[in-house]
Amino acid sequence: AYIKAWRSAILHCIENPTDVGSEKAFEYYPDGILVVTDGIISALGHASEILLELPNSMDIEHHPEALIIPGFIDTHIHYPQSDMIASYGEQLLDWLNHYTFPEESKFSDKEFARDVADRFLKELLRNGTTTALVFGTVHKQSVDAFFEATESLDLRMICGKVMMDRHAPDDLTDTPESSYQDSKALIETWHEKGRLHYAVTPRFAPTSTSEQLSAAGKLLTEYDNLYLHTHLSENVQECEWVQALFPESKHYLDVYDQHQLLSERSVFAHGIHLCDHEYQRLSETGSAVAFCPTSNLFLGSGLFDLSKAEFHKLNVGMGTDVGGGTSFSMFKTLNEAYKVIQLQGQNLDPIKSFYLATLGGAKALRLEHKVGNLAVGTEADFVILDKTATPLIKTRLARSKEIADTLFALMILADDRVVKATYSMGKCVHRREE
Ligand code: GUN
Ligand code: FE
Repeated sequence: AYIKAWRSAILHCIENPTDVGSEKAFEYYPDGILVVTDGIISALGHASEILLELPNSMDIEHHPEALIIPGFIDTHIHYPQSDMIASYGEQLLDWLNHYTFPEESKFSDKEFARDVADRFLKELLRNGTTTALVFGTVHKQSVDAFFEATESLDLRMICGKVMMDRHAPDDLTDTPESSYQDSKALIETWHEKGRLHYAVTPRFAPTSTSEQLSAAGKLLTEYDNLYLHTHLSENVQECEWVQALFPESKHYLDVYDQHQLLSERSVFAHGIHLCDHEYQRLSETGSAVAFCPTSNLFLGSGLFDLSKAEFHKLNVGMGTDVGGGTSFSMFKTLNEAYKVIQLQGQNLDPIKSFYLATLGGAKALRLEHKVGNLAVGTEADFVILDKTATPLIKTRLARSKEIADTLFALMILADDRVVKATYSMGKCVHRREE
C-alpha cells in the first residue's frame, strides 16, 4: 500500500449546521494530521495522537502556515462557457442569444472542445474545486472531450450532453430521437466509469419540446444512478415564457415533474422565483438546488431565498455557473452569497457557507461518504490553503481567534492565490507557482 501523511491545521464538516447548529457541524484540528492510504483517507486527528500510531519512517509533509480542507464541490457550471465569462450588458435570454449560443457552436470541433476542457479543469483545480456537475454543449463529442480530459487527473466529475430541440440556432439543436441516442451512447461509454457519472441534461424547459423531455425521463428509467441536470426559474422573463409554452403546467417545476424528471439525483440550477408548491415538490422528491450567487447578480436574475430552501429542507449546493457566473472561485462565490443573504436582511454563517461548498454540495450530488469531507474512508480530495498568501490575508488571519472568523475572512478576501496545492485521490493535481 502507498501511505502518505500531511500535517497542518485541518477543517471539515461532519453534519449540516442547519440541523445540528454550527458548533457541532465541523471538526477542527489546529495541528492535525491527515493520512492517505492508496488514495483513501485512512486517519484524521490531532497530530499529538496520530503521531503515536505512525511509523517513525513515515513520510509526513508539514505545512505550518496552512489550512487543509476538503476539495470544493461546484454543483452547477458550464465548461463550454469558460472563455465567454464576463460578457457585457444582457440578462438571461438575450445573453443566451447574443453570447452563449455562438460560443457553444464552436464545440462541434472536438479538438477545440478538448482544449477548452483541459483549461477548464486546470482552472477548477487552481481554485481548489475537485468535483463538479458540468454542462457540455448539444454536441455529443463535447462530452467525450470533457470526460477524456478528466481521465489523467482521476477526478470525480459529472457531465452531460445538452438536449435542446427548439428555440436555438439550427446548428445547436438536436431532436428527441437523436438526443436520446447520443445521450445513451455517452452513458454506455462514461457513466460510472471510474469516478465519472453521467447527467441527463435538457438545457431548460423553453429549449425542449415535451417529446424531448419525455426522452430524458425515459433515459432516467433505463440506467441506475443517472443524474438529471437543468435550469429552473432563474429569470422573470424566462418564467413567463415557460408558462406560455406549457400552459397546462401548474408552474415551472411542474413541466419537469410531468415528465418524471424529479428525483434524488436531480439538480436544478437557480430556483429563484419559486412558489410554495414548487419548494414542496423539490423537497418531497429529494431534488437539489444549486445556489449560484455570482451568476444571479451578474445576469440580474434575482436573490436566492436560502432560508426558504432550508425551511423546506431542500438539498442545496453552491454553483459558480461560469460563464453566467463570474468566477471559478468558491471563495468569491461565497463572498457574493453572503451579500445576497445580507440583501434579504439575514446573515450567512461562515460554517454554513463552508458546508454548502463542501459536504452540502456532496449531499446535493449524493456523493457523501465519497467526497465532501475528510472522514476516514472517503476519497482523498483535498486542498492546502496558504494563510499567508497575500499581505492583507496574512495580517487579517493573524487576528482570527476562531476558525469561523478565519473562514469568514477567507470567503471575503481569498481567491486562487490562497490555493497552494490541490489533491485528487491523494495525488497532487495542482501546485501554485511560487
Ligand atoms: N438557462 C438556460 N441556459 C442557461 C445557461 O447557459 N446559463 C444560465 N445561467 N442559465 C441558463
Ligand atoms: Fe447555468
